[in-house]
Amino acid sequence: MHKLDNKDLLHRILAISRAIAGQLDCQSVLREIAGEVNKLFHFDHMDVAIMLADGVNSISYEVGLQTQWGELVTGARPIMLSPIRTLLQGEVPYLLTGDALADDRFHFDGAFDGPIFAAKLRSRVHVPLYVNGSLSGALNISSHLKHAYTEYDVEVAQCIADLLAPYFYALSQTEQAKKAALGESHARNSEKMLRLGALQLTQGMEQERKRLGMDLHDQTLADLTRLLRHVAVLRRADNALEAPFLSIEKELDTCINELRNIIEDTKPGVLELFGFAQGVEAQLERCVAGVKPDISIAVIDHSNDYLDQIDTSQRTTIYRIVQEAINNAVKHSAPTSVQVEISKATSSLRIAIIDNGEGLNIDPHNNVGGLDNMKVRAALVSSTLSFNKNPENSGTKVVLDIPYKAFNNLPASIK
Ligand SMILES: Nc1ncnc2c1ncn2[C@@H]1O[C@H](COP(=O)(O)OP(=O)(O)OP(=O)(O)O)[C@@H](O)[C@H]1O
Ligand SMILES: [Mg+2]
Repeated sequence: MHKLDNKDLLHRILAISRAIAGQLDCQSVLREIAGEVNKLFHFDHMDVAIMLADGVNSISYEVGLQTQWGELVTGARPIMLSPIRTLLQGEVPYLLTGDALADDRFHFDGAFDGPIFAAKLRSRVHVPLYVNGSLSGALNISSHLKHAYTEYDVEVAQCIADLLAPYFYALSQTEQAKKAALGESHARNSEKMLRLGALQLTQGMEQERKRLGMDLHDQTLADLTRLLRHVAVLRRADNALEAPFLSIEKELDTCINELRNIIEDTKPGVLELFGFAQGVEAQLERCVAGVKPDISIAVIDHSNDYLDQIDTSQRTTIYRIVQEAINNAVKHSAPTSVQVEISKATSSLRIAIIDNGEGLNIDPHNNVGGLDNMKVRAALVSSTLSFNKNPENSGTKVVLDIPYKAFNNLPASIK
């Protein structure tokens, strides 16, 4: 570029300054000043490299030709691999070349110099950006032509760089802070989404359970009852077959009763109609009915019906955990008492299922049956589940701790 007098140069620099005004991100600043810079000297590609706070990586913003350097806006690259690393490390005050394709300073092992060849960037001027006396990046101007720039262009480029440096520094700091904040909120959101997703899954599973219950009731139970009637008619019609038909009838009767229990289990009606404590009590009653010797049962709720004020899918998940613990206690431990206690600990709601039976004789951490389902469900409500020896006497104490902060839609007043 031919030499300008100082007044003209000042005008042009001020025009660049005006173009920056009001731009709120690095890319827009570069786009807005491109026209004014082009009036000073022709370029085919211009970019600004900004060093990140880690001191190891940099990112680039570019105008003119699109190169892979510009893609760096989405991700940082190591300064050590930059073709202008000598400048970014403060080893040289500037770089000026008439043909970067053939200039060894830009090419070394591992150098990210592909764009120089791809975009045929021959003449190049690189000047540092300084903020508060520290190197913060570089302004890079390139042309397809050979030997397009002179030492005078370096001087002018440095004036532009001095003008741009504080803007780019402030804007890129804000952009990095925004990115960090976004990343953090994304992490927080994804945990919340995971929990919501899990709850939707629970809702879906519950609906599927109910549908299955209705199908079993309307179809299979009705079929079995019809079969039972048929067999009874046949038995009465032929005295000789009385005994075998009677035994088939008995078996069918057992099947029908078991099926009724399963269907009953698919719709925790008491839970929905009367609440958690009543639902658990009904489950206990169903479970111990007809078991000899008698098992005494109790549900003690010190939580003031806390679980009836939470999200119903979470409540169902918790109910299913307690249900399995009750089933296990009655089924495996031959107890004379099974008790469920709901209490408010400091930072969690605690539910304990306590039996006085034979105690666990397996490792509860290494199991794939109902215990495993309990653990999966406990994780769905971000809670911890522990299996302990009942401290008061023999038997097992299963404890579910649900942190208050894991409850959805709970009014702060009752957290
Ligand atoms: N309260 C308890 N007292 C004694 N043993 C228990 C108790 N709870 C669980 N167990 C033991 O843990 C084992 C695993 O329980 P889990 O619920 O996983 O399986 P299951 O009840 O045998 O079968 P499923 O639940 O799949 O129908 C049981 O077989 C039993 O030996
Ligand atoms: Mg079980």
